[in-house]
Amino acid sequence: MGCALSGTGLDPGKAAGDVNGPVPRSEAAGSELIASDSDPPLPLSEQQKELIRQSWVVLHQDIARVGIIMFIRLFETHPECKDVFFLFRDIDDLQQLKMSKELQSHGLRVMSFIEKSVARLEQEDKLEQLAFELGRSHCRYNAPPKYYEYVGVQFIAVVKPILKEKWTANVEEAWEGLFDYLTWTMKRGYHDAEQSNNINQSSHTKRRAQSGLKANQNAV
Ligand code: HEM
Repeated sequence: MGCALSGTGLDPGKAAGDVNGPVPRSEAAGSELIASDSDPPLPLSEQQKELIRQSWVVLHQDIARVGIIMFIRLFETHPECKDVFFLFRDIDDLQQLKMSKELQSHGLRVMSFIEKSVARLEQEDKLEQLAFELGRSHCRYNAPPKYYEYVGVQFIAVVKPILKEKWTANVEEAWEGLFDYLTWTMKRGYHDAEQSNNINQSSHTKRRAQSGLKANQNAV
């Protein structure tokens, strides 16, 4: 099958489901799913996928450092993002934050996700599911979608000097394309989880109202 990653025809709304797997956007549309904040990203070409894989061979040797610097830069440029992390929101000194074990392990988790994504460039179903579920978990973390694209920008700024002359406009475009795809899919996951929460909440409120009504009727 194809997807927004390869552009070979997958319905971009495919991953709108949850427990029973993705459902077509047409089905989800009835439930007013906010599919994404923008149009589907441009597909990655085979050449771009290859550029990503080749550059990852170099980058993955440095993942711990890239993960930390990327987040320190994110907090410098967008301090509001730090408030989402309750473990570091009270640490104002970015130098101190750099040494924090929590930030180090968080950076590594994010970089491992990038590593998994690179490994799944040819397994589009799996990649889509992975990013979609990640978006759903970010809804639990209260990390809003408007921040996601900042991560790709910082990632590129950090890895550029590591790759030196191997970094070209084409490599940059390829990584931008991958981050566009990941953030777009994460946003859909986030909105899907948000919507399930709203539905669960409103049926919970309804049930409470109904049981309150019954209790009142019995009391009369
Ligand atoms: C491309 C963008 C991003 C990627 C790929 C990403 C990836 C991840 C990953 C892999 C985890 C580990 C837990 C899990 O697998 O569910 C995680 C956790 C988390 N992320 Fe993100 N993230 C991104 C953007 C953001 C942004 C912008 C924020 C906040 C403004 C954020 C806040 C969090 C929080 C609060 C957690 C849970 C705490 C933790 O694991 O340390 N994420 N993220």
